[in-house]
Amino acid sequence: MQPSTRYLLALVLTGQLLSGQQMELQLDPQVKGPEIPETLYGIFYEDINFAADGGLYPERLKNRSFEFLMPKAGWEEPGTFRYGFNPNSGVSRLLKYGKDAGNQNFLRVEIAQDTGYRLINEGFRGIGVRKGEAYRFSVHAARGNGNVSQLIATLRDTLGASVGQVTLNLDSPQWKRYEATLTPLATVAKAKLEVTFKGAGEVDLDLFSLYPVATWNNRPNGLRKDLVQLLADMKPGFLRFPGGCIVEGRTLARRYQWKKTVGPVEERELLINRWNMEFAHRPTPDYFQSFGLGFYEYFQLAEDLGATPMPIVGCGMACQFNTAELVPLDQLGPYVQDALDLIEFANGSTETPWGRLRAEMGHPEPFNMTYLGIGNEQWGPEYFERYDVFAKALAERYPEIILVSTSGPFPNGDFYDYGWKELKKRNAALVDEHFYQSPEWFLENADRYDSYDRNGPKVFAGEYAAQSIGTTSPENRNNWRCAVSEAAFMTGMERNADVVVMTSYAPLLAHAEGWQWTPDLIWFNNLESYGSANYQVQKLFANNRGTHLLPLKWEGAPLTGQQGLYGAASWHEPQSQVILKLVHTGTTALKVTLPIAGITSATPVEWTRLHSSNPQTVNSFENPKAIWPTSVTAAATDGALKVTLEPASVNVIRITL
Ligand code: AHR
Repeated sequence: MQPSTRYLLALVLTGQLLSGQQMELQLDPQVKGPEIPETLYGIFYEDINFAADGGLYPERLKNRSFEFLMPKAGWEEPGTFRYGFNPNSGVSRLLKYGKDAGNQNFLRVEIAQDTGYRLINEGFRGIGVRKGEAYRFSVHAARGNGNVSQLIATLRDTLGASVGQVTLNLDSPQWKRYEATLTPLATVAKAKLEVTFKGAGEVDLDLFSLYPVATWNNRPNGLRKDLVQLLADMKPGFLRFPGGCIVEGRTLARRYQWKKTVGPVEERELLINRWNMEFAHRPTPDYFQSFGLGFYEYFQLAEDLGATPMPIVGCGMACQFNTAELVPLDQLGPYVQDALDLIEFANGSTETPWGRLRAEMGHPEPFNMTYLGIGNEQWGPEYFERYDVFAKALAERYPEIILVSTSGPFPNGDFYDYGWKELKKRNAALVDEHFYQSPEWFLENADRYDSYDRNGPKVFAGEYAAQSIGTTSPENRNNWRCAVSEAAFMTGMERNADVVVMTSYAPLLAHAEGWQWTPDLIWFNNLESYGSANYQVQKLFANNRGTHLLPLKWEGAPLTGQQGLYGAASWHEPQSQVILKLVHTGTTALKVTLPIAGITSATPVEWTRLHSSNPQTVNSFENPKAIWPTSVTAAATDGALKVTLEPASVNVIRITL
């Protein structure tokens, strides 16, 4: 038999030709199912891919306080010999304050002659500045011997031309913060900042900064506006932070410690980023965490976004994909205390030590934290022994806090089975599941949650993304094929929103030149940003969340890929609307009829579609709208909605009844 004949026979047998690529669906808007939680669609944030320093945290100067392991990394001293020694222009030496923690280093510069010595910061793959926008340049300095009277900061474009300059008069032998506003005369994506001096002699320098005045909500230590805007446009129900594996650390000594990320920004102690040299194919030796974006700022971001905050703390286990170091059970005390103190920091009265710090930082009101993650992606008995210690202490002191536990890094297999068995025994509240799988896996598993136990723990699908090539491959793309498969899977999660109460794509952010992991939801460079095809799917689903589930069926069964169609339906109580989500993964157009009692040609119908006929289509800096929502006209006739779905399309249809 010819392959084409065999294919035709297969279509006849599966009913596709007989039905002529059309389906009549069933839905009764009167039969309202369970409520859909407001948290269903949210954000997973991790400091990976330059997400914080070089990204959401818009400080333009890298290694601003000389704390990197190579303390002058990111800084050049042209004309000097290595280690900053050039008697003809100047000498720089790194000195220590002699403190045990916090900001430890500063730079002592001896200038041999006026303007002979230059100190240049390269930024994060360059410094992005926009013409006419204000940037706050600041530095801490102390004058020493000699007559160094001025510090001159000049922004230079890639050809070395000045595009803006400020001069600070150095007038104190004591440490003092100096500040001036620099307004560039040109837009430059990869500028450098050059620092020179007037006079000769010694000056101590620390905490350089070049920071945009225009940040989200115009806060002085605020976040990059375009990136927060993209997040806000998603209308996320929750914000999980700060990761990911970054929580655990490669080693325990280098785990994420939230207490070191709060208080005065100048005193926050730098930490090497665990993604720094994780992948041989994407080494990023200049990736550190300054913690200018710390836990206070994350809580503030969640509040700004109207998202419920979900911090995650380490549970005494370093990343099991790395060293898998363990804290002995009888030494977990400080780790548990960190978790308890975090709740006090977020919610405690301003009379408590951590609540007071929150107030001093500018937020006397509580942040209303209700979720806390214990560990990231842990597995095995070692996790549950430690989880139990945390759970006991937290239940005693803060029984109202909902704990997030984990079933490990994989969607099935031994770790997963063991994890779920243990979590069910413990009657866990919320279990974090992760899937980094092929697009085919997402299509085949759209019915995953249809059979989950309705009386067991709830699910937080906390990290998922279709991998066009394979997990951690640098060739993975945020293409339309992956986005459609995720959309199909998401209809399955939404249909089961009584069990799956939180979901988030991962990772979230990636610098076009500083990334380690792909695919990612949002891409940015020093000046611009765009949402990927996958972002458009996330945003479309999150912006069209109903209040109650409605059962949507074909031939009595949920839509899990029959004739290539996946679907979910909900009711939106305040707007009296039926919201249909229909993902057509087939290769030919599909006519869908949905009888709904009472609808007529006058019934308002809004249809938004994401579509591309090329599965390889990606959004990009050049074409950020290749995958973009369009409005389509839908025909409601007497008693039925009739639509023709394009192949490879994601459709949201709102019908006002
Ligand atoms: O999202 C990237 C990483 O994938 C996360 O840090 C980790 O939780 C998962 O393995």
